[in-house]
Amino acid sequence: VSGPFLRSGLPPFCLERWQSERETYAKINLSESGVEPPSWDYIEYAIDGLDAVDLGYGWTRGSPLLRERIAYGPYDGAAEPDEIIVTSGSAEANLAVVLSLIGPGDIVVIDMPNYMQVHGLATMVGARIVEAWRSPQDGWRIPVKEILSIMYDLEPRAVFITNPNNPTGNVDYDALWDLATAGGDLGTIIVFDEVYRGLELDHPTPPTILEAANDSMARAVSVSGLSKAYGLPGLRIGWAATNDPFLARKIWAAKDYTTISVSRLSEAVAAEVLREDVMADLLVRGREIVSANLESFRRILGGRLEWVEPMAGAFVFARVPGVEDTRGLAEQLYREKGVLVNPGECFDMPGYLRIGLGKADHELAAQGYRLIAEFLEEHGLGE
Ligand SMILES: Cc1ncc(COP(=O)(O)O)c(C=O)c1O
Repeated sequence: VSGPFLRSGLPPFCLERWQSERETYAKINLSESGVEPPSWDYIEYAIDGLDAVDLGYGWTRGSPLLRERIAYGPYDGAAEPDEIIVTSGSAEANLAVVLSLIGPGDIVVIDMPNYMQVHGLATMVGARIVEAWRSPQDGWRIPVKEILSIMYDLEPRAVFITNPNNPTGNVDYDALWDLATAGGDLGTIIVFDEVYRGLELDHPTPPTILEAANDSMARAVSVSGLSKAYGLPGLRIGWAATNDPFLARKIWAAKDYTTISVSRLSEAVAAEVLREDVMADLLVRGREIVSANLESFRRILGGRLEWVEPMAGAFVFARVPGVEDTRGLAEQLYREKGVLVNPGECFDMPGYLRIGLGKADHELAAQGYRLIAEFLEEHGLGE
């Protein structure tokens, strides 16, 4: 645990900028954290009625059909359709949650390492951040004891967790009830980014935090969307789902200031994608792609890198033995071999690389892993 820290301004978003400056030029892009998108042909069979889409603004919190499909699909009734705000990607959901629920001076606990969006936004609004660090020795599990003790000591406004976690690939189950119980006692809002939920590899899908919160009289928000497990980031469809209608109204109020409504074309496609059969098919596709790549990753890079086996997500968070400056290393790998991965520095964890498992073309993925092995060998690294 470290903090609370009070910093100000909007920090650069290391990961997003690292990727956007390089990903379109990379020969083999292994920097994505989600499953590679299927072609339009792949999902077209499921999409009906696009020619009838009205190109007006539509519903600012998402169409009733899409909100119903989200509530009874991924959430299985743990949230009501009126407790869902549809957003442009889960990134906008995170923004709307921070803008509407967190203010200057509020103490917030943030799960680390993590996708650094909420961390940056909480800094921007002047919150005091306590970082709760996972460790590889503990299998990257949520440090629940430490978080509970911070909660009872400091009574934070909110706790932000990413489960399944990016970048470690850990999935936690029991911690959800511990955190929700404490949240119910103290009034702390429990916010889970669940955008990788559904992309587990040989592990059960964890319950949504809303289920645990409903059992504990806690207020919770689940942020999620179609970008990662479903492999459809280009639709830019995400959402914030909550078990508290008052929180839903506050988040909706922020959305009025950001993008008003999502693209109606995307919204119509998303509603069809979230039909039970289509959703199940996309999730199976995603798990199959990632599992096959993980096998070749193990075969090619085992012995050179060190990692805790990911339980979910489309990436491995691997330590490069003997290397501190992994940003420099990732830059050199990109220049010499054209392979793009993410440096641990973008997760405040130098010494690590996050390497993607989401490529639909398994041969291309394996070629990328072989190039990484070759690069490490040429530089006498990673053994
Ligand atoms: C944990 C997490 N949340 C949110 C996002 C944003 O994704 P999107 O806006 O495409 O849903 C990402 C992207 O990498 C992520 O890893």
